[in-house]
Amino acid sequence: MITYEKITKSEAIKTYITRADESLAALGYTEHSFSHVMHVARMAGYILETLGHDARTIELAKIAGYLHDIGNLVNRKDHSQSGAVMAWSILNDMGCDPGEMATIVTAIGNHDEGTGVPVNAVAAAMILADKADVRRSRVRNQDISTFDIHDRVNYSVQHSELTINEEKTQVTLTLSVDTQYGSVMDYFEIFMQRMILCRKAAEKLGMKFRLVINNQQVI
Ligand SMILES: [Fe+2]
Ligand SMILES: [Fe+2]
Repeated sequence: MITYEKITKSEAIKTYITRADESLAALGYTEHSFSHVMHVARMAGYILETLGHDARTIELAKIAGYLHDIGNLVNRKDHSQSGAVMAWSILNDMGCDPGEMATIVTAIGNHDEGTGVPVNAVAAAMILADKADVRRSRVRNQDISTFDIHDRVNYSVQHSELTINEEKTQVTLTLSVDTQYGSVMDYFEIFMQRMILCRKAAEKLGMKFRLVINNQQVI
């Protein structure tokens, strides 16, 4: 049986993640390497575990989280679809069960706000985990004077946390934003589409989505 641990030990997959991130660095994008994909894996697992999903579904969500951005190796555009196809090939070679591959491929292929739809619980958990990973340490550009809007927004986020309430009716993204570097408007300019997708993902999981910025509920 394919496990998250086995996937994270694969040297081939490590190469794809590293090289995909190198392409994004060349394009001036924020960090999409091990720190990001392992964070997504962990958070997707946390969401499904908190909601009482079975252990195997949680494992598949973590695998999908780890693999979700490898499509950036092909091209940033449509990277969710190319990544899904790459994941299918990798997992097929490892002898993964077709039904489990189907779950992983669907989640990867639906994680991006352009075309992604939270079609099932694993896809929904991954969308929430991915879109919530906003933090200063993802900014590579060291020169504040040349920051673009993505750098400004990520750099301005001092703390971000995704939590589910005890009743399991609400998932909340809480951000502490240092407005010295980016305004809350900047945040909305690039995150509006992502937040709409997060709302749909939360609904798929039977929850409401809330966004709290600097102690104020904005969604
Ligand atoms: Fe992505
Ligand atoms: Fe991502």
